[in-house]
Amino acid sequence: MQQPSRVAIVTGGNRGIGYEVCKELSKSGCRVVLTSRNEPDGKKAIVSLDDYDITYHKLDVTDSKGISYLRDWILRTYGRLDILINNAGVYLDEGVSVFDVDQKIIQETLAVNFYGAFQMCKAFVPIMKQNGYGRIVNISSGYGAMNEMAGFQAAYRISKASLNALTLIMADELMDTNIKINAVCPGWVSTTMGGKMAPTSPHMAAMDIVHFALIDAKGPTGSFFRYKKQIQW
Ligand SMILES: NC(=O)c1ccc[n+]([C@@H]2O[C@H](COP(=O)([O-])OP(=O)(O)OC[C@H]3O[C@@H](n4cnc5c(N)ncnc54)[C@H](OP(=O)(O)O)[C@@H]3O)[C@@H](O)[C@H]2O)c1
Repeated sequence: MQQPSRVAIVTGGNRGIGYEVCKELSKSGCRVVLTSRNEPDGKKAIVSLDDYDITYHKLDVTDSKGISYLRDWILRTYGRLDILINNAGVYLDEGVSVFDVDQKIIQETLAVNFYGAFQMCKAFVPIMKQNGYGRIVNISSGYGAMNEMAGFQAAYRISKASLNALTLIMADELMDTNIKINAVCPGWVSTTMGGKMAPTSPHMAAMDIVHFALIDAKGPTGSFFRYKKQIQW
C-alpha cells in the first residue's frame, strides 16, 4: 500500500530560510504547512508559492494557545504530523556585550528561539509517537556551540545553546522510537537576519535542513550538523 505523503510544519515560513525550506519540502512530496506569526506576510508567501502544495496556518511560537490550536487543526486536517522544522528565530543583541544586554532581550530571545521550539516539540511529539514516525530539525547556530563559544550576542548564543541541549535531551528520551531530532547550523545565510554579505543562500541552507528532515530510520539523531557534516556541540 502506498504511504500517504509526509505532513510537515515549518515555523517562521514567511521569509528567509523557513520560506525556502517550505518550498524544498514541498518539492520532495511533503504536504507542507507554512506558518508565520504575521498573517498577511504568511498569506503573501503562500500566494508566491502558488505552484506548490503548501497550506497556511498562523502561528506565533510564543503563543501556547496558538500552538494547541495548530495541533488540533493538524489532527483534524491530516491526523498526523511527520516533520517539524523549528526555524522561527530572532537575533536581537547582535554585537552587544554580555555586560550591556538587557534582561528583557534575553527573555524575548529565549521565548522564541528556545521555548518556542520546546513547546512545539511538546505539542507534536505525542502525535509523532502515535504514528511511530517523526523527524524534527531544530535550526540552531554555531553561536550556540560550546565548542565555538565567544563574547557578544549573549542572548542569541544562550538561546541556541539551550536549543542544542534540548535537542540532546529529547533525542535521548526518544532513542527507542522512530522519532529523530537533530540540530542544524545553516551557516551564515543571506536573509534579513544574516544580511546581504552572507555567503550561503537561503536555498543552500534549506537543502541542508531538508536533508535531515527526510533521513531514513538508519539516520542520525541527537547530533549537530553544518553543511551536512557533524559538528561539535
Ligand atoms: N541567517 C543566518 O545567517 C543564520 C545563521 C544561523 C542560524 N540561523 C537561524 O535560522 C533561522 C531562520 O533565520 P533566517 O536567517 O531565515 O532569519 P529571518 O529572515 O530573520 O527569518 C526569521 C523568521 O522567524 C520568524 N519569527 C520570529 N519570531 C517569531 C515568532 N515569535 N513566531 C513565529 N515566527 C517568528 C520571522 O517572522 P517575522 O517575519 O514575522 O519577523 C521570520 O519568518 C533562525 O532560527 C536563525 O536563528 C540563521
